[in-house]
Amino acid sequence: MADEKKLCLCGSGLTKIYGLGRQKCIAVDHVDFEISECEFVSIVGESGSGKTTLAKMLLGLTKPTEGEIYFQGKKRDISTLRKKKEYWKSIQAIFQDPYSSYNTFNKIDTVLLDCISMRGGRKLPHAKKIDLMEEACSFVNLKFEELTNKYPFELSGGQMQRLMIARIFILKPQILMADEPTSMIDACSRATILDMLMKLRKDIGMTIIFITHDIGLAYYISDCVYIMEHGKIIESGSAEEVILHPKEEYTRRLINDVPKIHEEWDLSSVSYA
Ligand SMILES: Nc1ncnc2c1ncn2[C@@H]1O[C@H](COP(=O)(O)OP(=O)(O)OP(=O)(O)O)[C@@H](O)[C@H]1O
Ligand SMILES: [Mg+2]
Repeated sequence: MADEKKLCLCGSGLTKIYGLGRQKCIAVDHVDFEISECEFVSIVGESGSGKTTLAKMLLGLTKPTEGEIYFQGKKRDISTLRKKKEYWKSIQAIFQDPYSSYNTFNKIDTVLLDCISMRGGRKLPHAKKIDLMEEACSFVNLKFEELTNKYPFELSGGQMQRLMIARIFILKPQILMADEPTSMIDACSRATILDMLMKLRKDIGMTIIFITHDIGLAYYISDCVYIMEHGKIIESGSAEEVILHPKEEYTRRLINDVPKIHEEWDLSSVSYA
């Protein structure tokens, strides 16, 4: 039986304008997209092209100036705090800067216990909670017993990024928004993090929206790619379609800006027609 794709998150005419008058900045400009369940989507664009602003609107952290977001086929409603909290069970994020993602007053145990509570596990026996935390830490190659009683700021950047993925392992959201999650770590840890995300996607059928400057990486990991320039999506399609046969000059420039892309990802057949 052919796999029928189910739409998970869609946007129509999504726009975000910051400021007024001469200060006005159109960060996201009438963007349309359709993301299916279990899809790995990359959003690629230069710095300032509006990627994080788009992510924040999808996460419900920034209100769109115009346009609509549809979640599982229905217009998204996050008009009350309760509805917002319900929505956040389905969509979670890992960010560029892991240091900004934690409340510095909470120890790591509390960070993970909060995730268990969010998944409805508040009343589980303590031993069961420890099991879950140990399982989540071992999934990301961290040792829970070395983390208990520590604060997030006592971890290295790479450890903190892995802790963010341990949270996702417990929360099991339907959609994960990953905004440059591997920017602070070396290439080897980066590959490990990407492997973990791929595994999570396979194990729990998660949809991943991955934001990056790195079009070579996008080619390697995504099903579908959206290219953003000055707040607009100027090109989209399957990773092969967009990156091997770019239609727009801007996309070609992004490809050319990665000098090793042809060798590393074997894009030697890119057509510049
Ligand atoms: N809170 C804000 N107030 C005013 N302008 C903002 C705000 N956030 C973003 N902008 C502006 O919106 C535009 C898009 O910013 P955004 O952070 O979405 O870009 P980005 O593609 O994520 O860039 P980067 O790759 O550097 O993270 C930029 O011109 C930025 O200055
Ligand atoms: Mg950004």
